[in-house]
Amino acid sequence: AIVKLILGIESSCDETGIALYHTERGLLAHTLHSQIALHNEYGGVVPELASRDHVRHALPLIRDLLQKTGRTLGEVDAIAYTQGPGLSGALLVGASIACALAYTLDIPTIGIHHLEGHLLSPLLSDPAPEFPFVALLVSGGHTQLMRVDGVGRYALLGESVDDAAGEAFDKSAKLLGLDYPGGALLSRLAQRGTPGRFKLPRPMLHSGDLDFSFSGLKTAVLTLTQQHDLDEQTRADIAYAAQEAIVDVLVQKSLAALGQAGLDQLVVAGGVGANRLLRARLDETVGARGGRVFYPDLEFCTDNGAMIALAGAMRLQQQAAQRDYRFNVKPRWD
Ligand code: KG4
Ligand code: ZN
Repeated sequence: AIVKLILGIESSCDETGIALYHTERGLLAHTLHSQIALHNEYGGVVPELASRDHVRHALPLIRDLLQKTGRTLGEVDAIAYTQGPGLSGALLVGASIACALAYTLDIPTIGIHHLEGHLLSPLLSDPAPEFPFVALLVSGGHTQLMRVDGVGRYALLGESVDDAAGEAFDKSAKLLGLDYPGGALLSRLAQRGTPGRFKLPRPMLHSGDLDFSFSGLKTAVLTLTQQHDLDEQTRADIAYAAQEAIVDVLVQKSLAALGQAGLDQLVVAGGVGANRLLRARLDETVGARGGRVFYPDLEFCTDNGAMIALAGAMRLQQQAAQRDYRFNVKPRWD
C-alpha cells in the first residue's frame, strides 16, 4: 500500500478533535478542545453554541497540530471528517472545513460514520484486539452491541430502544444535582453509597434479546429523589443503586452477546467505557469464561479526532478516494 498522511476532523457534538494519522507510523498526534464548560450551565449541549465553538477552534487546532508534528498542510494526502450522526450544525463545520481544505489542496475527503470511529478506536491502543470481536458501544448518544468482523463489516446485535447508557448516567446525575455531563461525577458519588439500600429496576434484562432500555431507570431515580430527603448519604445511596443497575444490564447483555456470537474478545468503546465499575465487572466476568476485554485508552474512549483519522486511513485502503467536495452531512445515519 502507498504511504499516506491523513488529517482527521471530529465535530459531531461537543468536542473539536483533530488528528494526523500516518498509514505506516500510526497516530502522529491528536488534539482536542472540549466544550463541556461552555454547555455546563445549560445542563446539556446547546447545538448553536456548539457549532460556533467548533468554528472558533477547528482551524487553530489544525494549525497547532501541524506545527507540533513539524508537518505542513501540503503533506496531507486525504482528509477524513465525521459525516454523521450528530448535530447538523456542528457536523457542517467539520465537513465544510474538510471539503474546503481538500479542494484547495486537490486531495480526497473521506466522510466517516462517527460510530465506526468508536468501533475502530481500540485499534489505536496497545494491545489491540484482532478481528473478529464484539464491541459494546456506550456513549452519551448510543448503546449498541456490534459484531465487528473487519473494517466496514459490522452487524448490529442489539441496541437501546430509548435512552443511551450515558444518558441514563447523565439524567440520574442531574436528578441528584450534579453538573452535566454527570456520568463520572455520579460514579464518584456512588463510591460512598450504601450497597443494598435502594434497588432499581433492570429493564429488559430478561428480554431474551440483546436490546436495552434505560428510560424507566430515570423515572425510578426521579421517584426515589421525590420520596426521600436528599441528604449527602441518600444521594450517594441513590447514585450507587443507579450505577449498579446500569452496569449490571451492560455486563449481562455483553456476556450474552459474546455467547451468541461465539467470540471471546470484547471491546468497550464510548465515554461510559471510562466507568471503573463497568470495567471491573467486565474483566471479572469475561475473564471467568476465558475471554478478554479491550478498552481504548481513555483519550480515545470519548470523542476524538484520532479515531476519525484512523477510520479514514482504513477506508482509504479499501475504496477509491472521492474528489467530490459537495459536503452532505448525515445528522441521522443508521
Ligand atoms: O463518547 P462520549 O464522550 O460522547 C458521546 O456521547 O459521543 O460519551 C460521553 C458520555 C456522557 O454521557 C458521560 O456522562 C459518560 O460518557 N461518562 C461516564 C463516565 N465518564 C464519561 N459515565 C459513567 N462513568 C464514567 N466514569
Ligand atoms: Zn461519540
